[in-house]
Amino acid sequence: MKAVRVHSYGGAKVLTLEDIPIPQPKPGEARVKIEASGVNFIDIYQRMGLYPLQTPFTLGMESAGVVDAVGEGVTEVEIGDRVAYAMISGSYAEYAVVPAVKLAPLPSNLDSQSAAALMLQGMTAHYLTHSTYPLKDNETALVHAAAGGVGLLLVQIAKMRGARVIGTVSTEGKAQLAKQAGADEVILYTQADFSAETKRLTGGAGVDVVYDSVGATTFEKSLDCLRPRGYLALFGQSSGPVPPVDPAKLASKGSLFLTRPSLPHYILNRAELLKRAGDLFNWTASGELKLRIDKTFSLTEAAEAHRLLESRKTTGKLVLVP
Ligand SMILES: NC(=O)c1ccc[n+]([C@@H]2O[C@H](COP(=O)([O-])OP(=O)(O)OC[C@H]3O[C@@H](n4cnc5c(N)ncnc54)[C@H](OP(=O)(O)O)[C@@H]3O)[C@@H](O)[C@H]2O)c1
Repeated sequence: MKAVRVHSYGGAKVLTLEDIPIPQPKPGEARVKIEASGVNFIDIYQRMGLYPLQTPFTLGMESAGVVDAVGEGVTEVEIGDRVAYAMISGSYAEYAVVPAVKLAPLPSNLDSQSAAALMLQGMTAHYLTHSTYPLKDNETALVHAAAGGVGLLLVQIAKMRGARVIGTVSTEGKAQLAKQAGADEVILYTQADFSAETKRLTGGAGVDVVYDSVGATTFEKSLDCLRPRGYLALFGQSSGPVPPVDPAKLASKGSLFLTRPSLPHYILNRAELLKRAGDLFNWTASGELKLRIDKTFSLTEAAEAHRLLESRKTTGKLVLVP
């Protein structure tokens, strides 16, 4: 089968399309014939070695497709089932072998590209708004990179929970998209001081929570945006990693809470996975949640997809179609 592999860490050019054997499912595993694979920022961190994996490896952490083989003892899915999953390596390929408990069966009204676009970023937006800091009616959230893959979903789901949402983005075009997704106010953080603007927009009070996926360039000022005892959910580092933090800073800035959440810890068991995925499937089917697939690529174009994502030129989701 064709697979996009990394032999040594580096820039997008290290991605190589290769022929490797089709994997065979072991007990408890199912093989998925992949119809669409999501591109995520984590793929860039793994390609660069920021999140090191044993080389060589097949890149990609989510896909949707059809089960075409099952290992011994699998009860969760059957051959022919349409499924999707996230946070299992090896999805930039024609087939992947996945623990069956990690597979979410797809409703018939959800196509594979949409499913691949929803799983990783959607479940992230779900856990941030429902579990990390469960937003309540009339609370205010600041969402960085609000027109990104996670960002557009996070804005919509935060609005569904009744929150006021302030978004940050780098361009006017992205601001329009964040507003269409429901953001009440949008700050161009490449032009304005977003902490001063956030304080102004909240009458000096600060926001209840900041969802920060940008990291290095936003972290310090994100702390300044919070109300006393507010929450900073630092869930990514698209601009680079955040340096070590002195806990005393959290006291001086208002007895703040800081967490660094990660999706695998919020889909710890099958019930949690199916609940989050099920909510996303239902909201998408009802039209409450709108997906934006920015662009689709073939496996041969994976490096181009990475370059686009890294250069801040994308809005919403990038999908690979084998
Ligand atoms: N912890 C978790 O469980 C989890 C799960 C999923 C994703 N994430 C994280 O969430 C973040 C977003 O992921 P995504 O796949 O949805 O990507 P994305 O938000 O679609 O793309 C990244 C965005 O970050 C912004 N950005 C700011 N500074 C940047 C820089 N120096 N270089 C590149 N981008 C920069 C850009 O938006 P502007 O142009 O508007 O600034 C860019 O479009 C990533 O950090 C990812 O690791 C974390």
